[in-house]
Amino acid sequence: MTHFDFHRGRRLRRTETIRELVRETEIRPADLIMPYFVVETEDSHYRKPIGSMPGQAQLGLAALYEETAKAVDLGLRAVLLFGLPGSKDEAGSGAYAQGGIVQRAVSGLKKRFPQLCVVTDVCLCEYTSHGHCGLLSPSGEVQNDPTLALLAQTAVSHAQAGADLIAPSDMMDGRVAAIREALDDSGFENIPVMSYAVKYASCFYGPFREAAESAPKSGDRKAYQMDPPNVREALREAAADIAEGADIIMVKPGMPYQDVIRLMRDTFDAPIAAYQVSGEYAMIKAASGHGWLDHDRAVMESLIGLKRAGADLLLTYFAVDALRVLGR
Ligand code: PBG
Repeated sequence: MTHFDFHRGRRLRRTETIRELVRETEIRPADLIMPYFVVETEDSHYRKPIGSMPGQAQLGLAALYEETAKAVDLGLRAVLLFGLPGSKDEAGSGAYAQGGIVQRAVSGLKKRFPQLCVVTDVCLCEYTSHGHCGLLSPSGEVQNDPTLALLAQTAVSHAQAGADLIAPSDMMDGRVAAIREALDDSGFENIPVMSYAVKYASCFYGPFREAAESAPKSGDRKAYQMDPPNVREALREAAADIAEGADIIMVKPGMPYQDVIRLMRDTFDAPIAAYQVSGEYAMIKAASGHGWLDHDRAVMESLIGLKRAGADLLLTYFAVDALRVLGR
């Protein structure tokens, strides 16, 4: 007998079965979207490992289909495609080219994996010679309004290739409205838009810029991506994108912005996606590579954190690892 009747929280942690009975959050295979980098190359079996993202590679078309087949076998349901064009120019014309690399990858994937949800990233930065997400003015500023038509054209070309979901990541103002209108005008009123609505100017994109060869040649992205200390601004960005027709709202990066994910979940009724970005991937890979963290546990704990914060969908380079762990 104790005199003070304290809370016995341990009762519900005693066995794995009991812990499972009272578990509040879970990761479902259907939550996961796996990003791939597809390269326009002569050799479609091309594979170039990405140094800062161990386990990930730039892939030729045939290599992309091989990787996807393995992932689909493990239960993957959705991919996100980034393209590396054969050549770049000032206007990023590879982004909206007929027969561009992403357009070809989309139609090739849909032919081979009709059930797979193919999501495309809409942005110019991988296709522009200067590495910015929009057209540059003579003084080197990213021009908002002239960029919108090119983003809309890119989105329509992806839909024509068979994309299931369009994800603009450029952070130009008004791009969701421009893309929505262009999709509707081209007969794609049923293709949803997942907006990178709340995208911060983050150092955690560093490894991606190696992967996608998209680092800006001069300056940075702070004049269009959000300032990390701001959260009320995130509400304005998300509200604007929903008003413009976004179906899904994304927060990016994930781990340093879990408060923002929670705020989005509690404020809006749209599905919320979280992007665990390249730098978050690299941190876990580096630490687990040194034996400082258990790889699989770090992967699963980082992902459950994003779900617990309120994310419905998870974009993560660990999607295939998570499926492997879930399938055990
Ligand atoms: C393109 C884009 C970026 C990412 C997704 N889309 C890079 C950037 O904005 O510089 C980052 C993804 C990652 O780091 O994993 N604009």
